[in-house]
Amino acid sequence: MRLIGETAWRETAGRVERELRSILEGLDCPGLIRESMGYSLLAGGKRIRPVVMIQLCELLGGREKDVMPLACAIEMIHSYSLIHDDLPAMDNDVLRRGKPTNHVVYGEAQAILAGDGLSNLAYEVILHALPEDPAVRTGFLKAAAYLSRCAGVCGMGGGQCMDLLAEKEPASLETLTELERLKTGALLRASLVCAAFTAGREDLISSLETYGDAIGLLFQIQDDLLDAVGDEALLGKSIGKDALAGKTTFVSALGIEGAAQAARDYRDRAEEALGSLPDAARSYLKDLTADLLERDH
Ligand code: IPE
Ligand code: IPE
Ligand code: MG
Ligand code: MG
Ligand code: MG
Repeated sequence: MRLIGETAWRETAGRVERELRSILEGLDCPGLIRESMGYSLLAGGKRIRPVVMIQLCELLGGREKDVMPLACAIEMIHSYSLIHDDLPAMDNDVLRRGKPTNHVVYGEAQAILAGDGLSNLAYEVILHALPEDPAVRTGFLKAAAYLSRCAGVCGMGGGQCMDLLAEKEPASLETLTELERLKTGALLRASLVCAAFTAGREDLISSLETYGDAIGLLFQIQDDLLDAVGDEALLGKSIGKDALAGKTTFVSALGIEGAAQAARDYRDRAEEALGSLPDAARSYLKDLTADLLERDH
């Protein structure tokens, strides 16, 4: 891996982790829900979305302190989506980030509330952190609006809806592509676009959206491949669940080699989209693409 897990990555992830912990500690709320939210939010995970948001923002001339609330918010939204995704009514998973899933430990009702709690807290954190400087504030608010759209029914939420439908009837490759672009791509794209808005680089948003769509698909194809052929201990989540659920995925639609080829095609498309970016950002995102293609967890 070129970026993920390397020293700079771990340091940025560590600062996000400390911030998330301190936000939870500062809540005046029932102890049980604080504990259950922290159980999932602080369980590790690669922290791809917040780390990329912060590091890209800095490469584009922005400041970590300005983007940190958005980075914490996107990780809260991602963690909430995982808690709900694992519920018996959805994917019925018992292992996540190497630990029993939230509902296994706290029960379904509390797990639903922990997910709801993290979703709401994300926006609370953003709205309590509006930057004073009017120039930074404008970009920050645009980023927040973009993030909220990507998390909602026109983004991740809508993708999850389509994903469940794809368990009931086979989806065409076109529908599958749209489903995966939404359920996984939308939040990854938001991490890039929020970085650009906060750094005041709106001129780069269209290229970053094209890149984000491609790596979102690459990322989810890799997730589908790892579900089929990955190592449960490395992944920290159960494998074989997509086939068991009879879900249409890139692996069921294209086979293992076909899905791997599709992921490489999206890598090429992602790299093509980087042409107009400043050198340092282009080289960073090229390394990220390679890491996402090679990841084993
Ligand atoms: C898993 O996301 C869910 C998908 C969107 C495929 P990650 O692979 O980023 O999970 P963590 O955060 O590292 O646990
Ligand atoms: C879920 O996709 C993506 C989310 C929006 C949470 P999956 O259901 O394939 O994710 P995993 O494999 O459980 O992490
Ligand atoms: Mg799912
Ligand atoms: Mg799942
Ligand atoms: Mg999966």
